[in-house]
Amino acid sequence: MVDLAGKRVLVTGGAGFIGSHLVDILIEKGCEVVVLDNFDDFYSGKERNIVRHVGNEKFHLIRGDILNYDLLFHVMKGVEVVFHEAAQAGIRYCNLNPVKAHRVNVEGTLNVLLASREQKVKRIVYASSSSIFGKTSSMPINEEYPTNPSSPYGATKLAGEKYCLSFHDVYGIDVVCLRYFSVYGPRGRPDQVIYSMAYRMLTGKRPVVYGSGEQRRDFTYVSDVAEATLLAAETEGIAGEVFNIGFGKDFSINELLKILFNTMSVDGVEPEYLESYKGDFERTLADNSKAQRTLGWRPKVNLEEGVRRFVEWLDEALKCGGRV
Ligand SMILES: NC(=O)c1ccc[n+]([C@@H]2O[C@H](COP(=O)([O-])OP(=O)(O)OC[C@H]3O[C@@H](n4cnc5c(N)ncnc54)[C@H](O)[C@@H]3O)[C@@H](O)[C@H]2O)c1
Repeated sequence: MVDLAGKRVLVTGGAGFIGSHLVDILIEKGCEVVVLDNFDDFYSGKERNIVRHVGNEKFHLIRGDILNYDLLFHVMKGVEVVFHEAAQAGIRYCNLNPVKAHRVNVEGTLNVLLASREQKVKRIVYASSSSIFGKTSSMPINEEYPTNPSSPYGATKLAGEKYCLSFHDVYGIDVVCLRYFSVYGPRGRPDQVIYSMAYRMLTGKRPVVYGSGEQRRDFTYVSDVAEATLLAAETEGIAGEVFNIGFGKDFSINELLKILFNTMSVDGVEPEYLESYKGDFERTLADNSKAQRTLGWRPKVNLEEGVRRFVEWLDEALKCGGRV
């Protein structure tokens, strides 16, 4: 294992949902953390995700775009590990904005790889996604399962992953790809199903469900994902590998809603069922045995506990007049 304590690392998209949790554990570990984030207007309130670190001499925030190669090159000086979390997320948003998704997720990733190569970064950890699998016929899915994305978002994340792996093959770049499965938790994105359902109920509205609600997801708690991401940077001998990072248990959206009802002590509320959107898929369920075996990763937070922590955070965020 490589000890990252005292090392300079870069987190692209470090003000975002997953990126900011990763920053928390990297700072705790004693890393010198550089965040590059353009605070994209996909959703607002990200400043609060990282406010606790402002003023810490080991924390450096750079507002900027991964599409700016010169900036990336400059920011990567002396960086040993790059955690590439910046992306245009959101399947529905990307359906409406495929060009932006392509630019940020594909061209942006290419820039990160090029600058990392020039600056001789020791390892890149790329945030890939379960959406690269698209429609699947058997479960759980392991890393060998064919990739067949059914949305522009999934296509861009797969292209990013392929660029990473080709840079490993052609230039010998040390890169590891993590396919995150339905990440949720405090500081979550407002477009995510759990956020949207809980937010509507906390503000006196009926939760909205797209489709029948029988779609199943392998919901994975954000601190478990941050932990896996750190392990992927520390574990030696895994360059060019991909890992599924999912809890390993699936729930339907209707089951998730029941857990939310229980957690929030809500009774007698009928969800509003709307037409499903294109690019949505029926089921995700990770076979995470490779990550368990190779990274020594053990997801710890089950859905009931994760939902409890999330609702507590959202409630507090709304009382403070925004996200916290
Ligand atoms: N949340 C999930 O369920 C999930 C699942 C699979 C994969 N992922 C991947 O994990 C990563 C983090 O996702 P998230 O859910 O935290 O999303 P997020 O939107 O909260 O975080 C992305 C961050 O990137 C920043 N960003 C966007 N465009 C940028 C640009 N051009 N230059 C610099 N910064 C830019 C945003 O401002 C944001 O802070 C993404 O790569 C996403 O594709 C997320």
